[in-house]
Order: sequence, then C-alpha cells, then structure tokens
Amino acid sequence: MVKERVFLIGMMGSGKSAVGAELAARLNLPFVDTDQAIENKEGRSIAEIFEQDGEASFRSLEQACIQELNAVAQVVACGGGLPCFENNIELLKDLGLVIYLEASTELLYERIKGDERRPKLKDFDTFALLKTEREAVYRKAQHTIDAAQSIDEIIADLLAFLNHQ
Ligand code: S3P
Repeated sequence: MVKERVFLIGMMGSGKSAVGAELAARLNLPFVDTDQAIENKEGRSIAEIFEQDGEASFRSLEQACIQELNAVAQVVACGGGLPCFENNIELLKDLGLVIYLEASTELLYERIKGDERRPKLKDFDTFALLKTEREAVYRKAQHTIDAAQSIDEIIADLLAFLNHQ
C-alpha cells in the first residue's frame, strides 16, 4: 500500500510520463505530470514559456508546482531538469519517495531526437553533456530503475520496491 507521493525523475525520454500514468492507474492514485500541470496553469506550451520568459522563469514555475502539490499519496512525473535546480532534489525527498529512471544516453536520445516541443533538446553532444551534469543529482534518488526495460518490467520493479517501503 503506497501512502506517500512517488516522484519519477530522469532525463527526457526516460519514460517518466508513460510509466507514471501506468503506475498511478495500477495503484489507483492521482497522477501529476509537472510539464502538463505547468502548461495547463499557464495556458501556454513549455516551448512558448521558454521562448517568451526564459528558462529561469520556467524553473520557478516548476518549483511552485512541486510546492503546491496536494498532501495526498500520488504519482508525480517530474520534468527532466526539475530536480537539478535550487535544492529541489532534497525537497522531493522530503515530500516523498524519489525514483530515478535510468537509461543510456544513446537510447534516450534515439527516443526523443527531433522533438521540437523540448527546448533543452539540441544535438546529441549537448544532450550527453546535460545528462552527465545532472547524473549526480539523479543518483540521490532513493531507488534507480533500468528504464531500457519494457513498461511492464519497469512497473513490476517499481511495485516490488514500493511494496517494501
Ligand atoms: C526539460 C525536460 C522536459 C521539460 C522541459 C525541460 C529538461 O520534461 O520539463 O522541456 O530540462 O530536461 P521531460 O523530461 O518530461 O521531457
């Protein structure tokens, strides 16, 4: 029985949104996708927010989104950069269980290359550098899961972990 918030973190392309939605459905818990929540609240796409107000403004919206979460058990898929700004990784760990969906740079990039809705996604080398810079923060998660697996395998791993909490 999951009684707290579960945060999924990791790079773009790691499957946080798809896995999060499936996990929430299996656990019968609410699901929040921070990117989606911000877009809904702002009435603009992430790309528009970056373009019109800049990245720093988007990062403030992300932090506010986490601070405004309801105090109920839920599954939260975090935008890729969210844990890496301010002290958000520690904030997430104070608020619930943090799980890192990890996969190789090659696999992640292959899944998302060319997606123009992601302003931080440029060429492979930039993506690889961003991943390297963020890795130390992602590794502070309480648990890491191999995101190269099928969604069913990932969910099984997640449920096994959560059942032992
Ligand atoms: C970002 C990842 C995106 C989104 C924004 C910035 C990042 O979320 O928050 O485009 O800095 O890695 P996903 O990880 O869900 O793609």
